[in-house]
Amino acid sequence: MSLSLSAEQPATPDVATDGVWLECIECGDTFAPFDDVRYTCDECDGLLEVRYEDLPTFDDFEGHGVWRYAAALPFESGVSIQEGSTPLYEVPRLEDEIGVEALRIKHEGMNPTGSFKDRGMTVGVKVAEELGVGRLACASTGNTSAALAAYGSRGGMETLVLLPAGKVAAGKIAQASLHDARILEVDGNFDACLDIVQELAAKGEVYLLNSLNPFRLEGQKTIGLEILEAFLADYDTVPDRIVLPVGNAGNTSALYKAFRELVQAGELDEDDVPKLTGVQAEGAAPMVEAIENDADEVRRWDDVETRATAIRIGNPVNAPKALPGIRETGGTAVAVSDEEITDAQRSLAAEGIGVEPASAASVAGLRKLRADGVVDDDERVACLTTGHLLKDPDAAAAAGGDPEPVPADTDGVLEHLQQ
Ligand code: F0G
Repeated sequence: MSLSLSAEQPATPDVATDGVWLECIECGDTFAPFDDVRYTCDECDGLLEVRYEDLPTFDDFEGHGVWRYAAALPFESGVSIQEGSTPLYEVPRLEDEIGVEALRIKHEGMNPTGSFKDRGMTVGVKVAEELGVGRLACASTGNTSAALAAYGSRGGMETLVLLPAGKVAAGKIAQASLHDARILEVDGNFDACLDIVQELAAKGEVYLLNSLNPFRLEGQKTIGLEILEAFLADYDTVPDRIVLPVGNAGNTSALYKAFRELVQAGELDEDDVPKLTGVQAEGAAPMVEAIENDADEVRRWDDVETRATAIRIGNPVNAPKALPGIRETGGTAVAVSDEEITDAQRSLAAEGIGVEPASAASVAGLRKLRADGVVDDDERVACLTTGHLLKDPDAAAAAGGDPEPVPADTDGVLEHLQQ
């Protein structure tokens, strides 16, 4: 199977352009990368992956941000707003409380539009330029729409976003709006939005920039590459485990691909690949269900609900790429309650790290897996926090304390403080 850590590097097909091609993960059919617009396999509708004749080595990486990893990407540069190079925070109190050898927080909320989506968009919008397509579009729980709007604007392209009405956090809509996306509020959930935008794309109305687009995931690989480089610098070893929130499972797929490519290049030992550990909200946990049942396919959940609106997703389109990633790396998946998510959001805030609810799911999941003994006390772990606190100001205010009204004089303030 092509999605295995022990897969051999395939021979370069004739359709390759500058050593880059697209390959179906199901039937292995190959396609030229930039001749036509294509999101899935013409033959079997399977998901596509970008393949390279030359695999990257650590020595190839130079510079800053996502484009430091150009050797692992289809281009030398993209439509950029200086994405990537996000902090990998130490969290000594949380590390102690959870009880692992090392815990670091990769805060993707520190990207230009406040989420990891920027890493995918800098590549995806570049491909759109290359293909010469007109209007860019996505379905979104919010962050993808903010990133698409910003990167589309940066590239001088028109953008259209489909959002589930009433279920997108305020900061994200504000971003899409100011960056001038045309915003359609759909009377349905995210999965319905994605169905529609896929049909619009199939009709040639829009260029799709959801994570179904294989080029988006190329950019998101750089999260994994940054984590590995930082751990090698700080601990002289890669992390034992990477814990991340899962919605469409794009990041899970992207990190797995980054590691597979390093293994194929002889840069990373197969046994050292970090255990990919996905976390979903209890009300939207189809991936967890598939892992727990050892199922080959994920069952679509029609009714999903969680406070972590970013991952309120019932049909993770990248599951065929992500399930092997979790299994082959020896990882797992776990569901957490909204209360556990908010508790983790507060714990991160107490270390000075402000994240939106979906992001805190990773820490909530780690806490649970450690308590259950699935994660050992000698593990070095990286948790991904995917979006910034300001994305969802309402959730942050609800999780924090309330402002207290006081009179406009010092005595009144002092009196209030003594109460
Ligand atoms: N965390 C945040 C903050 C997200 O916005 C998303 C996805 C995820 C995690 C899940 O990532 O899909 O790679 O598993 N948000 C998409 C959006 C769906 O439209 O913004 P995944």
